[in-house]
Amino acid sequence: MSEKGETAMKILYATSEAVPFCKTGGLADVSGSLPAAIAAEGAQMAVVLPLYRRIRDQFGSQLEYLCYDYVNLAWRRSYCGLFRLVRDKVTYYFLDNEQYFNRGNLYGYMDDGERFGFFSRAVVRMLPHMAFWPDVIHCNDWQSALIPIYLKDDGVREERYRAVRTVMTIHNIEYQGRFGPEVTGDLFGLDSGWVNDGTIMMDGDVNLLKGAILCADAVTAVSPSYAEELKYAYFAHGMESVMRRCAYKLSGVLNGIDMKRYDPAADPLIAKNYTAADLSGKAADKAELQRLMGLREEPDTPILAVVSRLVAHKGLDLIREVFHDIMELPVQLVVLGQGDEKFEEFFSWAQGQYPGRMAVRLGYDEALAMNIYAGADLFLMPSRSEPCGLSQMIAMRYGTVPIVRETGGLKDTVHPYEAWRDAGNGFTFAAYNSGDMLFVIRQAVGLYWDYPDHFHRLRLRCMEGDFSWRRSAGEYLRIYSGITGKPRVKPAGEDPESRIGEEALGKPAVQEESAQPAEPALQEGTAQLAEPAHPEKPLAAALVERVTEQVRTEKPALKAPEDTKPAEKKTAKRKGSADKKETSADKADK
Ligand code: GLC
Repeated sequence: MSEKGETAMKILYATSEAVPFCKTGGLADVSGSLPAAIAAEGAQMAVVLPLYRRIRDQFGSQLEYLCYDYVNLAWRRSYCGLFRLVRDKVTYYFLDNEQYFNRGNLYGYMDDGERFGFFSRAVVRMLPHMAFWPDVIHCNDWQSALIPIYLKDDGVREERYRAVRTVMTIHNIEYQGRFGPEVTGDLFGLDSGWVNDGTIMMDGDVNLLKGAILCADAVTAVSPSYAEELKYAYFAHGMESVMRRCAYKLSGVLNGIDMKRYDPAADPLIAKNYTAADLSGKAADKAELQRLMGLREEPDTPILAVVSRLVAHKGLDLIREVFHDIMELPVQLVVLGQGDEKFEEFFSWAQGQYPGRMAVRLGYDEALAMNIYAGADLFLMPSRSEPCGLSQMIAMRYGTVPIVRETGGLKDTVHPYEAWRDAGNGFTFAAYNSGDMLFVIRQAVGLYWDYPDHFHRLRLRCMEGDFSWRRSAGEYLRIYSGITGKPRVKPAGEDPESRIGEEALGKPAVQEESAQPAEPALQEGTAQLAEPAHPEKPLAAALVERVTEQVRTEKPALKAPEDTKPAEKKTAKRKGSADKKETSADKADK
C-alpha cells in the first residue's frame, strides 16, 4: 500500500495456455512471463487457466485445491473446481472440469466453442471464490473473448461485475472463434439481443473476438506495427472495419522475451555457454549443431536457420521459390518445425538435394531449437504477417542475426543494417517477394564472408538489444490505470536490488507513482537498438554495465502449501458435471 493508502491494482490474466504449464504457441510464452513482469512493476497479478490433463499430470502435486462450484451455461450446469499455485509472485488459478479439459490436447476438438465458453463463464462465476477481486481482467485471443461479454451481461444485475474493467489482447487475429449463429443461446447462454444488435455477429457468424473487441475497455495488439496493420484488410482477416471503429481504444504493446530463460550465458540446453564478450562457446555450439544435423563440419560457413511452424503465413513459399538460389550461396541451411504437409514434404525433399548442406527436422524439439538459436549465424523469418514474433528476439539474444520481412513485430524489433554508419541489427525486406528476400540473404551472407568485423559488430548489436518485458509491463500498467482511473503504484526504488532488499525485510515494497490521470495507452514500445559498439569503450565493460542493469536476483520461490491435494483426489466431487451435449461447433478456429 502507498502512503496515501492506495493499493496496487489487481489484474486477473485469463489465458488458454501459459509456460511452463502448457504450450502450443507464442501466447503461452507471453502468458508465462508477462504477468510476473507486471507484478514486478507493482500490480497484483493472478493468472487463470483451464486445468488441462497435462497440467494435472505434471503439476498435480503442487496444486492446492480451494473449492468447487457449479457454472450455469445455457441449459447446462457443470462442476468447476478451483485450484491454486503460486510462482514468482503470481497466483495461478486453474479451473477444473474433466469433461472439458481432461483431454490429450489443448485445442482441436469439435466442441472447442463449448469448452472455452465454459472457461470464460467459469472465470466470471468463480471470481468470488478466488479471494482476488480484480480491477481488470486481461483476456487473450478468442478462448477468453467471452469474458468481457459475460461481465457486461452480469453487470446489468450486479454492480460489482460492472466495476471490473477488461483488456482484450489480440495475439493473432486469424483466430476469431467463429460459430454458426444458432449456437448463441444453446452454447454460450447468451440472449439473442447480442446477435440482433450485431455485437457478436460478423458476416453471418457468431464471432467471439469481435464481441470482445467491442465490449472491452481497451484492446491491444502484440506490437505497434500490428496494431496499425489490423486496420487494413490484408492483415485483419475481415475485421478491419471493427478495428478502425475501435481505434480509439487500440494500442500496440510489443512483447518481450524471458531474458533469464533465454540467456546464452546460462542456458542449460545448449552445448556451450557464451557471452558477447567471449563468443568462443558459440563456435562450439555451431560445430555441435553441424554434428547434430549431419551438416559438414565447416566452422567458416554461415548457417542460415529457420525455426518455425511450417504454415503459409510464415512466408515459407518465398523460401521454396528461391531455394536453389539460396543454396548456390556459400551457406548451410537448417530447418526445424512442423505444420502443413506441403512444406514438410518440400523441406524433406530439399534435404535430399543438398546432403551435408541442408538439414531439416520435422517436429518441435525445444533442446534442438535452442541449439539452433545458439549455433546458427543467420535466422530467416520472411513472414507474410507476424503479430509480434518471439523467435527473432531469441535469435538476436543468442547473437544470430535475423533476416526478416518488415511486418508487425518483425518490423518493430529488427532494424535494417546500414553499412555506411555501421548501424542496425539485422536484414529486412519490405515487399512480400522472393527476389527481395534473396537480395537481403545475399547481402547478409556477403557481409559474413567479406566483412567479418562488420558482421561481428552486427552480431554484438543483436546481443545487446533490450527485449526484456520491463518496458512492456509498464505500458500495460498505464493501460490498466487509464481504464480503471487508479494510479499506478510502483515498487519502491527504481533499483531492483533495493526492491529485493525491502522484500527480504518483509516491508511492503510499493510507492505511489502519481495521482495524475493516466495517460492514454502508448503506441511506442519498439525495442531499443543498442548504440553501435563504440571503439573507445571496451565492449566487455559496456556489457557488464548493461547486464548489471538487467539482472534481477530471483526471490526464493514461494513454498507450495503443505496441504496440497492432487487434483485426482477430487474426482469424486465431479459427479455433478453436466452431461455434455455434442455440439457442431465445427467452425472453431483452433
Ligand atoms: C501469436 C503470434 C506471434 C506472437 C505470439 C505472442 O502466436 O502469431 O507473432 O509473437 O502470438 O503474442
